[in-house]
Amino acid sequence: MTKRISLTQYLIEQQRGEAQIPAQLRLLIEVVARACKRIAISVNKGALGEVLGTAGSENVQGEVQKKLDIIANEVLIEANEWGGHLAGMASEEMDDMHAVPNRYPQGEYLLLFDPLDGSSNIDVNVSIGTIFSVLKHRGGDVTNDSFLQAGTEQVCAGYCVYGPQTTLVLTVGQGVVMFTLDREQGSWVMTTESVQIPEDTKEFAINMSNMRHWDAPVKRYIDECLEGKEGVRGKDFNMRWIASMVADVHRILTRGGVFMYPWDKREPSKPGKLRLMYEANPMSFLVEQAGGAATNGLQRIMEIEPKGLHERVSVILGSKNEVERVTAYHREAQ
Ligand code: AHG
Ligand code: MN
Ligand code: MN
Ligand code: MN
Repeated sequence: MTKRISLTQYLIEQQRGEAQIPAQLRLLIEVVARACKRIAISVNKGALGEVLGTAGSENVQGEVQKKLDIIANEVLIEANEWGGHLAGMASEEMDDMHAVPNRYPQGEYLLLFDPLDGSSNIDVNVSIGTIFSVLKHRGGDVTNDSFLQAGTEQVCAGYCVYGPQTTLVLTVGQGVVMFTLDREQGSWVMTTESVQIPEDTKEFAINMSNMRHWDAPVKRYIDECLEGKEGVRGKDFNMRWIASMVADVHRILTRGGVFMYPWDKREPSKPGKLRLMYEANPMSFLVEQAGGAATNGLQRIMEIEPKGLHERVSVILGSKNEVERVTAYHREAQ
C-alpha cells in the first residue's frame, strides 16, 4: 500500500532529497495546489454556483470562453501573484503574459497554465482539469519571450483532474506522483507513489470524427489498430475519447494507452490543435517521467524551440512502443 503522506510532506522530502527543490519552488507548487482546491469547489457547485455556460467573450485563439475558463484563470492569478515566488504567469486565457505587480516581490519562476482544460465538458458534468508548467526565469525584464523555452527546461509540471475524485498529478523531474484531495480534511494525500506507463497497450484515444482530415501516417496507424486480431497488429484495440486532455492523459498514466491530437488538413496552416506551452509540454514531461514518450510525429515535443506563447503542436503521447510506431510511420512518409 502507498504511504499516506501529504503533499507538503512529499515536497519537504523533495527539498531535502535528491531533487533538492528550492523552497520557492515548493511554495509555488503548494500555491498552485491550493488554487486547484478553490477551482474544484467552483466546479463541484456547478449550476448551484452559477458557474456553467459561456462568458460571452473570446480568447486569443478565437475560442468562446466559458465562465469557468475565466474563473479558474483569476483564481490562479490571485493565488500566485503575491507570494514572491514568481516573475510572471502566462495562460491560455490571456493574450500576453501577466507580470507580477510591482507592489509584490519578484521571484525566480515562470508559471504557465491551462486554467480549465476540457471546456466543452464543463456543462455536461464530465471530467475537466487544470494543467501547469514551471520554468526558471533567466533574468532581465519579464516579457512574452521569457517564456519561450523548450519543454526540457521545465522544472515542474502537473495537472489537476476534477472528476469523481479530485486528483493532483505532479513531477519535479523525479518520477510522477498522484495525490487525491481528501475533502473532509482539505488536504492532498499521496495515493500513487510512482506512476509507470506500460510500454505496450491495446487502447488509443483520438477524435475519430477527424479521420477524413488526417495525414497518411496517422490513418495507417489507426487503420491497423482497427483491423484487430486478424490484422498486422494481431490484437484487438479499444478506443476512448473524453475530449478533456487532462482526463485522457490521466487514463493513460493510470493504465497505458496512446493519445493523439495530430495535425490535420482542416486548417493546414496550423501545426495542430493543442498548445505547446501549457498543454503539450507539461503533459510530455509527465508522460516521459512515467516511462512513456511524446512526439509531434517527427520530433520529441520537449525539444521543440517555441516561437510563440500560444503556439500549437501535433501531439502523440503515451505508451512508448506505440508512440515509437506512430513516429516511425511519420518518418517513413517523409
Ligand atoms: P481547452 O478546453 O483547454 O481549450 O482544451 C481542449 C482540448 C483538449 O482538452 C481536448 O483534448 C481537445 O481540445 C478536444 O478537442 P475536440 O473537441 O476536437 O475533441
Ligand atoms: Mn480553450
Ligand atoms: Mn486545454
Ligand atoms: Mn483551457
